[in-house]
Amino acid sequence: MLRFLYKKVLKPVLFLFDPEAIHHLFVRVGELCGRFAPGRGLVRLFYGARHDASRTVDGITYTNPVVLAAGFDYNARLTQILHSVAFGGVEVGSVTARPCPGNEPPRMTRAIRSQSLIVYKGLKNEGVDVIIERLQKRPLQKGLILGISIAMTNDEGCATLEGAIDDYHTSLKKLVAADLGDYYTINISCPNVYGGENFTHPGRLRQLLATLSDVDPGRPVYAKLPINIELDALDELLDIVHEFGLQGVVIGNLNKDYDTLDHREEAPEEYRGGLSGKPCRDPSTELIRHARQRMGPDFTIIGCGGILSADDALEKLDAGADLLQLISGMIFEGPHLMKDIARAIAHRDTQQRLPP
Ligand SMILES: Cc1cc2nc3c(=O)[nH]c(=O)nc-3n(C[C@H](O)[C@H](O)[C@H](O)COP(=O)(O)O)c2cc1C
Repeated sequence: MLRFLYKKVLKPVLFLFDPEAIHHLFVRVGELCGRFAPGRGLVRLFYGARHDASRTVDGITYTNPVVLAAGFDYNARLTQILHSVAFGGVEVGSVTARPCPGNEPPRMTRAIRSQSLIVYKGLKNEGVDVIIERLQKRPLQKGLILGISIAMTNDEGCATLEGAIDDYHTSLKKLVAADLGDYYTINISCPNVYGGENFTHPGRLRQLLATLSDVDPGRPVYAKLPINIELDALDELLDIVHEFGLQGVVIGNLNKDYDTLDHREEAPEEYRGGLSGKPCRDPSTELIRHARQRMGPDFTIIGCGGILSADDALEKLDAGADLLQLISGMIFEGPHLMKDIARAIAHRDTQQRLPP
């Protein structure tokens, strides 16, 4: 019923309007509902998880291994409502040391037939100081795990290597000093920023992680990797992440290859933003499978990209993911998706526990 209403009634109306405006509207409505118990209760009534799919990863227990990926709640406004929509966690941000106004609009375009968003946000966010203040003022919703994604400010100050490293370092130090977040993700793979993906280069990644290692984060730290990457290059990044004592990786970020769209004509001729959704699904799953084989069982892999159904979620878990992240599935399929995934995982857990 919820699926039908979203796909046949609400979505066709919402998709008539500018994607960024709708995103903004949903964040405001979600923020308002989160403030009051009746708002949270009503949302939970429709969208709350009814099945136990809990997982403990790096000492943190998630009621559902599905986390809202970085980029949706970039200013940390939804930390009081997302558990009512069956999310086990939220990764707020990416946050940067200074506020970022974002790239020139349009920052989001729908490629509807390809089930993808073309994202050219450019790390728009209010900056780490404002986000810390907001998180300190608002108690986190019970049951929701808080991840914080850290990226470098999208401006000329980060055009030099030193400037960019200092930017990550500043945000990390401030977050640790404020004792906020259950885990951190270092986003080294945003495709739409000043200077490009600087830190997917092994030498520069080493320099970044060496500098960050003088901060004791006191919680797990992950690196978010690109998905347009050869396996040899992935291996190198995985080894560096492991060498510097990070607990794992998020695989991965947006897809830069427009030829992976089911309908290439839905994207502009020239590159203008990364693709989310379906074009990320198979490449990220393949990288997850490879990373699991290479890194063994004691390394955390968070699977992200193109989870549009419960089957997609199970496929990522089968490939070796410990946790899952998504955004586009919630937009294209509807907010019941997370509860559907929790149900599918819980059923599978039960089957696996049954004697043969
Ligand atoms: C509107 C939008 C903004 C995003 N911004 C960020 C960001 O700030 N930091 C980040 O690490 N990833 C960002 N991403 C990438 C997502 O976290 C995720 O890796 C990608 O969308 C693939 O997941 P999906 O197919 O479930 O959407 C963004 C994605 C979208 C759709």
